[in-house]
Amino acid sequence: MLPTLVGQAKSEGLVNALAEHLEETKEHAARLEPVFRAVGAEPSSNFSPPVEKLAEHHDELASSFTDDRLADVFHAAAAATTEHHELAAYEALLRLGGMLDIGDARELLEHNRDEEARALERLESELDRLVGALAAQRH
Ligand SMILES: [Fe+2]
Repeated sequence: MLPTLVGQAKSEGLVNALAEHLEETKEHAARLEPVFRAVGAEPSSNFSPPVEKLAEHHDELASSFTDDRLADVFHAAAAATTEHHELAAYEALLRLGGMLDIGDARELLEHNRDEEARALERLESELDRLVGALAAQRH
């Protein structure tokens, strides 16, 4: 979803926030592999059905905006929604991890979770900025 949003967003601030999180995300899969091994599972690269649906829904509506700034609000909101979803998944995994002895894998999960949380904060601040600019233009 992030590469699509990077291509669609027009605002420099939003593009940078998305592109930087895209780079971070490339490290996430590598950090998750030892977590799988810590619980005796094989890593796999299945897509997440909820995120796939979010991306599908976003793509259906994305072309209906005639105002680039309003479209950017839509893109930022879609990205923030995905980050909320990821963050909730990491929080649940960390709670489960607290029950199991996953050793150093916990730090890897926390590292990913912290990057998701910072990405969400940044996207929400971009969302505020984009909505603020739209509101200022209306008055
Ligand atoms: Fe993320």
